[in-house]
Amino acid sequence: MELILCKTYEEMSLAAADQISELVCKKPDCTLGLATGSTPVGMYRELVKRYEKGELDFSKVKTFNLDEYYPISPENDQSYYYFMHDNLFSHINIPEENINIPCGNAPDAEAECHRYEDLIAASEAVDIQILGIGQNGHIGFNEPDDFLYASTHITGLTDSTIAANARFFESENDVPKKALTMGIGTILRAKKIILLANGKSKHAAISALLDDKITTSCPATFLKTHPNVVLICDEEAYN
Ligand code: PGA
Repeated sequence: MELILCKTYEEMSLAAADQISELVCKKPDCTLGLATGSTPVGMYRELVKRYEKGELDFSKVKTFNLDEYYPISPENDQSYYYFMHDNLFSHINIPEENINIPCGNAPDAEAECHRYEDLIAASEAVDIQILGIGQNGHIGFNEPDDFLYASTHITGLTDSTIAANARFFESENDVPKKALTMGIGTILRAKKIILLANGKSKHAAISALLDDKITTSCPATFLKTHPNVVLICDEEAYN
């Protein structure tokens, strides 16, 4: 696993934006795997800046987001659909039809998971998958458990994830209790994976990622089986 250790969140965001920018310039019709949460916000801000300066063209880029709450409507300002448009898609020239996010208000969650997994499988492999990491080591909404799922599936959120995400909602009760998420196998099919982590609260999860064990109690440890992972983190998360 390659490590890019950064002093600040800003530096991390620039390092991640550099990797995406390089890909988009080299391969304008690339496929990006994208993540929500507070960690990638700085990277998205930087990509928007570069787009506004005319340095990047997203007109042929295709994206697949990792996950979405369930049930939630795309218009809900806490949906990941809303988040992605608010932070990135509405500010760049990506065509709406190139954007893929699991549908949080699909009437049949299982059918939606199959549809999403098949869509990813039928598309060219994701060139770069961006990941954040939960304090409990989750990636996407693959939460610690006795077993993990390979493919896109519906899952319950753990109490610790609900508590961690409550900051975005009026109260903990308003956090949806389920989500649709790519599975570990879906994530690992990306050609390259960039994991972003900052702050002390991520230290335990990053430590588990850096030792030699693989365990379903820290889903991110499965990234150790992938040949092309870049960890971009700050010193608080690392040390
Ligand atoms: P965060 O979430 O970026 O808001 O810390 C990361 C995650 O839960 O995957």
